[in-house]
Parts: sequence; C-alpha cells; structure tokens
Amino acid sequence: MARILLGVTGGIAAYKACTLVRLLVRAGHDVYPILTAGAERFVSAETFFALARRAQSDDPYQHLEHADLLVVAPLTANTLARLAHGLADDLLTEAALAHDGPLLVAPAMNVRMWEHAATRANAETLRARGAVFVGPEDGELAEGEVGVGRMAEPEQIALAIEALLAGSGKERPLRGRRVLVSAGGTREPLDTVRFVGNRSSGRMGVALAEEARRRGAEVTLLAANLAVQAPAGVTVVETPTAADLEREALARADADVIVMTAAVADYRPARPEAEKRPKGAAPWTVRLEPTSDVLAALGAGRRPNQVLVGFAADGAESGLDRARQKRSAKSADIFVFNDVSRSDIGFDSLENEVVLLSNGGERHVPKAAKSEIAATVLDEVERILSEQ
Ligand SMILES: Cc1cc2nc3c(=O)[nH]c(=O)nc-3n(C[C@H](O)[C@H](O)[C@H](O)COP(=O)(O)O)c2cc1C
Repeated sequence: MARILLGVTGGIAAYKACTLVRLLVRAGHDVYPILTAGAERFVSAETFFALARRAQSDDPYQHLEHADLLVVAPLTANTLARLAHGLADDLLTEAALAHDGPLLVAPAMNVRMWEHAATRANAETLRARGAVFVGPEDGELAEGEVGVGRMAEPEQIALAIEALLAGSGKERPLRGRRVLVSAGGTREPLDTVRFVGNRSSGRMGVALAEEARRRGAEVTLLAANLAVQAPAGVTVVETPTAADLEREALARADADVIVMTAAVADYRPARPEAEKRPKGAAPWTVRLEPTSDVLAALGAGRRPNQVLVGFAADGAESGLDRARQKRSAKSADIFVFNDVSRSDIGFDSLENEVVLLSNGGERHVPKAAKSEIAATVLDEVERILSEQ
C-alpha cells in the first residue's frame, strides 16, 4: 500500500478520475485528492474525498503531505505549464513543488492544445525531470474533434501506477512487521467526572501510526483520549488512563516495533472518589501517587530484535540531558526529544521539531509537519531493523 496524492485538474475527463480513485482504494492505497478550482467546475471535491474514504482536511499544511507518488489525472495544458515552470499558485502546484517522490501524469486536452509548441516544450521539460506520462490517447475528443488528447483509461493509469510503485521500492518496507503505537494523553480520575490530564492531542502518535501503516505494517494504536481522528486501517484500542495503557501495552509487548508517544500521567490521584464530589467552600486536597513507567517496563522485558522508541516532552534547558539518560535507563533504541516549553511545536500543534537520539548518534530534525517527523522517525526504525 502506498500513499498517493491525486491531483485532478479542470478538464471534462475529471469525472474519470473518480474511477481511478476507486481502483486505487480497492488496491489498498491511501489516496489524498487535491482538486484545482478548474476541476471543481466539473466534479465536486466531496465526491473524491468520499471515494477516498477520508474527511476533507482543514490542515493548513496539506501541500506538505508526505506521499510516495504524485499523480495528476487528468492533467490540463494549464497545469502542465504550471508544473513545468515550478509555479506554486494553488494547493496542487504547491504540493507538487514540495513532493520529492515520483510524478505520474495523464494529460487530457484538445489535440491542437496538445500539439502546440508551448505544450510540447512543457511536456518535454517534465519528462526530462523524470515524470512518467500515461497517454494521451488518440481518439474522439469530448468536443467532437478526433486526434491525440484523450486521457488514458483509468485502468491503464492504475496499472502504470502499480508498475511505478513496484519499481520505486518505496512500497511497504514494514510489510509483515507488527507496530504498536501509543498516542494522546491519559486522564486520571479525581472523581466520576473530573480528571488530571495533559494537553497532548495525539497528533504525533496518529501521524506515526498512519506512516507505519502506509509502509505496510500491521499497526495497533493505543489511543488515550485522542483529539484527532485515528487513521483508517489500524486497530484502535482505547486506553484512557495510565493503568489501561500499561495493561494493553504489556499485553502486546512482543510487537516488532513499539513507539510510545502518548503522554502518560506520571502521577494519578491516589484515591479517586466514587461519585462526583459536590462543590463546596472547603479546599480539596488531593494526594497524587506515581504511576508505573510503561516504557521502562517494556525496555526491561524487551525481546531481541525489537525496536523500542520513546518520546520525551520536556523543557529545553536540561530536558535533552534527561532524554539522553532516559534512553539508556529505559533500554530504548530511539528517544525523540521535543521541547514543550515552546508553543509553536509539540503539544497540540501541527508541527514538531525534535532531536532524535539513537545508536546512530544525535540528530536535530528541523521544524516540520508531524507527518514528516513521523517519516524521519520510521526511517531510523527501518535503519535499525536492517542492521539486525
Ligand atoms: C468545457 C471545458 C472543457 C475543458 N477541457 C479541458 C481539457 O480537457 N484539457 C485542458 O487542458 N483544458 C480544458 N479546459 C480548459 C481548462 O479548464 C482551463 O485551462 C483551466 O484554467 C484549467 O485550470 P487547472 O489546470 O487549474 O485545472 C476546458 C474548459 C472548458 C470550459
């Protein structure tokens, strides 16, 4: 299964791209549709998102979505020109500039547009950069003329996509691996309605689960009060409290890769009240007791050839030092440190900036979308797995 960005541009053939989405989803791919304003004159984005089985995103960084392949079908003369010249004036062309993988295009246009010297030159520019062209075909065009310009049939485009993915070797490097990811923040009850919690939204863990599944892993997500939707195609186990998370994690401690991103409470109310405590004038003193350290327990019982990843959310000053100590104390292969004293990254934000500590050394990963940070962490996991 691969993650495919599917650009749809403003030609009559846009309706055929619906069939292409269905074929790709049926083949198990994760399709992320991006329609130009021109395309939306012919088809609705809603149809594409429904066929791709995903909600329309309100993420301001959609153009930074990490993908194995960018497909544009149909490709208009206009967008062909924009791609050839590196314009970035809408979501699709921004995504194309940010995309560092293969590009496959299926042009569709009037024969005279296709044969125009400007279009020929633009197609040559894209080809020279390695873009794969499928079609256009010779035949009757929408406006009644006959000539080269018809979009290739969706089945033919889907076959070309499979061939390209198989050749790119980017497909499913974690196939056959069981990956356990924890995400979110636990809530420790004070009484039946109140709790002690933290601000973790679960975005980082969800991005990791999604990326691991995209790489072919069998993923279980331990979900602690997620503020975001869990990705499709992963097994979700609800773990609202530290005790739930510990129990479910230890029950799955034989996974090939364990990534603990959830912010698990370090302390919980020692005696949660059995009913909602009525409001009163007197102060309420709560005694907190330490919870057990799930990562340390997983590290102590780890099996050979397992990769264990911990996350440390801490302040910048001494946090990095503490993360270094934790990595060795908890027998983790990778520790990902992020500075939660900053408000622009980390807890509850769309981006993160981390330091990756592993046996390969320490690497600062600059601020990026959490999907990209997830890809970097899993690249490191794959490197360690390949050394075993
Ligand atoms: C009815 C109709 C059909 C069109 N079909 C095509 C087409 O098949 N290929 C093409 O290159 N342009 C076609 N166009 C022109 C594009 O819609 C126009 O160039 C638009 O600016 C493309 O924007 P986009 O590339 O951002 O989607 C068509 C326009 C109309 C009104």
